[in-house]
Amino acid sequence: MDLSAMAWTAEVLAGPGRGVLAADESTPTMGRRPATVGPENTAERRRAYRQLLFSTEGLASSISGVTLADETIRQRADDGTPFPDLLGAAGIVPGIEVDRGTTPLAGFASELVTEGLDGLRLRLAEYVYLGARFATWRAVVRIGAGRPTPTCLEANAHALARYAALAHEAGLVPVVEPEVLMEGAHDLERCAEVTVATLRAVYEQLSRHQVVLEATLLTTNMVLPGSESGAHADPEAVADATVDALREAVPAAVPGVLFLSGGQGAVEATHDLAAINRRAPQPWELSFSFGRALQAPVLRCWAAGDEEGARAALLHRAAMNGAARRGTYRPESEPSAAGAG
Ligand code: 13P
Repeated sequence: MDLSAMAWTAEVLAGPGRGVLAADESTPTMGRRPATVGPENTAERRRAYRQLLFSTEGLASSISGVTLADETIRQRADDGTPFPDLLGAAGIVPGIEVDRGTTPLAGFASELVTEGLDGLRLRLAEYVYLGARFATWRAVVRIGAGRPTPTCLEANAHALARYAALAHEAGLVPVVEPEVLMEGAHDLERCAEVTVATLRAVYEQLSRHQVVLEATLLTTNMVLPGSESGAHADPEAVADATVDALREAVPAAVPGVLFLSGGQGAVEATHDLAAINRRAPQPWELSFSFGRALQAPVLRCWAAGDEEGARAALLHRAAMNGAARRGTYRPESEPSAAGAG
């Protein structure tokens, strides 16, 4: 275990002006995105779509890393280059999602726990061989009446800590991903409260499992009102609540926080990221690990058979988020067509 190499990779991933493209959607999730693969949800169609993303010239100026799915890390570009090598040659760090999804937490109605620890040591060794440099594990927390329970938070935090320790053992940077979901009628304050409780549980367990935080990263949600609350928080309110929550719960030793977009529109996520970065400097880099907020405009072009447009849309969204990090984001640079996300 070379902690200094992992700490260096973590710093590269979270470094200024760039962020992570999450392209780790599972096969069923890809099938639910009709624009991507639709009824023709074949390995070849998924490969062709991911090839378009990864071979986009200039992507590395705003993208530091890409998270791959198990299928994708084994796939190759048309010329036979494995995807991790294609990314590495472009100056982008390849990573892998290693959890096996969520399952109901027995005895706790509507709460979920993430699976995938059995056999993980062996799977991590294989991912290292295939070229991965970081590993992600997503835990989800739902807000509702009586939820989340402390048991749900503890079970998920415990699994995150076990995976993070195994990732370190294998030489992979754990990108620890607890997500408080946006679904629900709760307000911004309730999301803040649950986010703090979730992050505290995670860092308590990481400490118990002796995970060296300097060689980890955090991916988590921004603090937002619930999607069924009817409320809309402006970017300044989101940024204040998000930075306050992080300051209560995330140790300064963590080099970076990469926000997920969580179902926000693409442009909305960029506005919020820009506002959060106006609160810099903080103890951690304030970056992004966006899936839908980077890919939604790309998918609209891909679905229409417009590959050139798809690449341009990817570069544009990546550049806008890079600018949000640098404090140079100008909303007027958004073509109105890219807005809906
Ligand atoms: P979304 O940005 O679509 O929420 O996905 C993020 C993700 O998977 C982070 O790793």
